[in-house]
Amino acid sequence: MTRLSDDVRALQAEMIALRRELHQHPELAYAETRTAARVAALLEAAGLEVRAGVGGTGVIASIRGRRGPAVLLRADMDALPIQEDSEASYASLVPGRMHACGHDGHVAMAVTAARALVGRGLAGSVRVLFQPAEEGEGGAQAVIRDGGLEGVDVVMGVHLWNELPVGTIGVKEGPLMAAVDRLRIVIHGRGGHGGKPHRAADPIVAAAQVVVALQTVVAREVSPIEPAVVTIGSVHGGQAFNVIPDDVVLTGTIRTFDPALRRSMPERLTRVARGVAEALRCRAEVEVKAGNPPVINHPDIAEIARRAAVRVVGEEKVVRPEPTMGGEDMAVYFEQVPGCFVFVGSSNAARGLDQPHHSPRFDFDEDALPIGCEFLIAAAEEAIRARGDAKG
Ligand code: NI
Repeated sequence: MTRLSDDVRALQAEMIALRRELHQHPELAYAETRTAARVAALLEAAGLEVRAGVGGTGVIASIRGRRGPAVLLRADMDALPIQEDSEASYASLVPGRMHACGHDGHVAMAVTAARALVGRGLAGSVRVLFQPAEEGEGGAQAVIRDGGLEGVDVVMGVHLWNELPVGTIGVKEGPLMAAVDRLRIVIHGRGGHGGKPHRAADPIVAAAQVVVALQTVVAREVSPIEPAVVTIGSVHGGQAFNVIPDDVVLTGTIRTFDPALRRSMPERLTRVARGVAEALRCRAEVEVKAGNPPVINHPDIAEIARRAAVRVVGEEKVVRPEPTMGGEDMAVYFEQVPGCFVFVGSSNAARGLDQPHHSPRFDFDEDALPIGCEFLIAAAEEAIRARGDAKG
């Protein structure tokens, strides 16, 4: 059903080899030097104009049309601090580092799309961005500070997506991925002897109550039909079994879509944490750090993306994905330039390739790579056509 063009077909084996090579050499945020060098070398050899060192380790390859709109295709390059649990021949060679989100595939697809686009005689410009540090480290902001978005009319990007079967493409206008803010709470008590709790103020008991009480913010204060999540992901306190410590530190994540709800969360969480801690003779210090805004796909660009997806996999394989409370720094570009972020189905349960993203057993069906690559090419072409028409 998938329609691949000849140039993508010709580059397919190299694309898969590149993905596997990158998978063996995962690099964390802002340390993607090997990856970036490899990308730059491949694209220079293919005759593209390459700018390296964008936002740290980022790379931009440009295909310039004489006039017309400029489309940016974005791929992210960073891996995760995870020990891979895999039998694959291409498993990570670096202990404690793994491409567990599919960014190795994103790079391979974007490199291949860039190489194919050179020969397409475009009526506009395409900039292919290899972004550093997507995993919560501000890579998109760094690219923007370095001028990576200047002169761009449309931004497009894909994520390989194990929530969808390989062969499908998920396109949705409007809200797609949540805003991601960080929460840090320090519960200050007064340390003492584990056998004499009355002489201390126990921050561990207070922290336990705070963790539970924070869940009531979403359960009791937020409309049940409005998506919101508060997750406490780490609890640190104490050293010994018989000692009450001075402090406990909690960290967590806050996920929302609605801007007003997002703005209200720091006050709500602070009030509950402080109130509960105070009731137990402790004191809570609450800090909320704003992270990525929600990914909101522009309706016009989503329509362009849908057309591109139909070209590649056919109408019946283009699906409308559920929004997810996961986050993505594509959102940062969309605050400045209209764009669309698209999910490329990559799971194959029959082959055991259906583990969730960020799992130590994550892997995807490589048949998704030519589909995603072809989609990027089609998306650039469709966007140039649509925007070119709009510009007259
Ligand atoms: Ni990712």
